[in-house]
Order: sequence, then structure tokens, then C-alpha cells
Amino acid sequence: MEPLKVGILISGRGSNLQALIDAAADPAYPAEIAIVISNRADAPGLDRAKAAKIPHRVIAESGRRAFAAAADRELRAANIGLVALAGFMRLLDSDFVAAWRDRMVNIHPSLLPAFPGLHPQRQALAAGVKFSGCTVHFVRAEVDSGPIIAQAVVPVEDGDDEDRLAARILVAEHRVYPLAVRLFAEGRLGISGNRVSVAGGVPPDIVALNPTLASVES
Ligand code: GAR
Repeated sequence: MEPLKVGILISGRGSNLQALIDAAADPAYPAEIAIVISNRADAPGLDRAKAAKIPHRVIAESGRRAFAAAADRELRAANIGLVALAGFMRLLDSDFVAAWRDRMVNIHPSLLPAFPGLHPQRQALAAGVKFSGCTVHFVRAEVDSGPIIAQAVVPVEDGDDEDRLAARILVAEHRVYPLAVRLFAEGRLGISGNRVSVAGGVPPDIVALNPTLASVES
């Protein structure tokens, strides 16, 4: 089967982009990164796309609609089947979100719906939660909202500050994002309202990220 063509939108560092590039380097992975779009010309993630010889574009339009129109053109020209936001830090035009409904995913460094928006690790520390983590979800109009595909739990440790917690969550992000994109590419995700089901059951790698699920599996 032809691999699913994924378009990735970034604004910065691109470490999640890199995790997806690395996953897709495996010929058995069911998706390929076909285009990378950045809204910032200085995003370091663009160098990762360059190094991997992936077509990349900068769309620096300041207007939300103008950005969306240009991004939509590029994504359609590249025959994209899934848009993945990877540290894309701009609000998206609502028509663009509607046009890519159920074909656009995002990763966010908290256990949504807790702590959407900016500085989620700072929000988690301020709230005093004992567990945080990351979430991959289908994109809906509200920021960092939509049906949840996969989450990974990361304990908050005594002495954590924002950077330390963010660094440990990032390690989990790099595992869970390629996994969620794989499930989509394999056509295993069903959406019903806010809930996402995974055909064939919860894969072992999700159980590894969330050990408490092991008892559900057996
Ligand atoms: C990641 O932690 C990602 O989850 C977060 O930005 C960081 C980007 O890092 N995204 C959001 O907060 C979206 N609301 P990266 O550029 O190295 O992938």
C-alpha cells in the first residue's frame, strides 16, 4: 500500500517533526512526510526538513486567512492525506480547520483538556498536579481541543521546574506522536463525538507509555 502523505506545520525547533521524520525512515512505517510548512522563516525545524530532503515552504503571511489559503494550496498540491501540527504556534483559520476536519492532528504537552494554550507545563506546576504528559488529538476550532487519539502520562517530580518537566514530557511526545500518526495511517481510528476508538485494540506501545492500561488489556 502507498504510504499516507503527511504535511507538517511547524513554527520553531521541530523536535516532533524530527521524531516523525525518523519514524518514517523505516520502510515499514505507513506514512511519509511529504511537505513541511513553517510560518516563520527562522524556524530551526526547517533545517531538519532540509537535511532529510523533504520539500519545505515558508508561508510568512501575517493574516490568518491568507496563511490558510496558501497552506491549503501547498497541502493539496502535495496530495496530503493528514496534516500534523508539530509546535505550530499560530491560531488557524476556522474554514481551514473545517476543511481538514478529521484529517488534522496536533500534539500538546499536557493531559488535555487540562492546561491548553501557552505554557502548559507552567500551568501544571502551578496547579500542583502529580501527573502531566502529552496528548495527540484531532484538531477542532478551539485551541488544543478535539477528540483524543493518544496520551502519555509523565509524573511530576519534586523539584521540577518548567524546563525539567517540559524536557521529560518531550521524550514522551517523541514516542506518542509517531504512534498516533501510524494508527491514523493504518486506518484504525474511528471518531464518535469526542471519543476516538482504535480498531484492533490499544497497541502495546500505548500500554508501555501508560502502564496502568496493562490490566485493561489482559
Ligand atoms: C512541543 O512541546 C509541542 O507539544 C508544543 O510545542 C512544542 C514544540 O516543540 N505544542 C504546543 O504547545 C501546541 N499548543 P518542537 O518544535 O520541538 O516539536
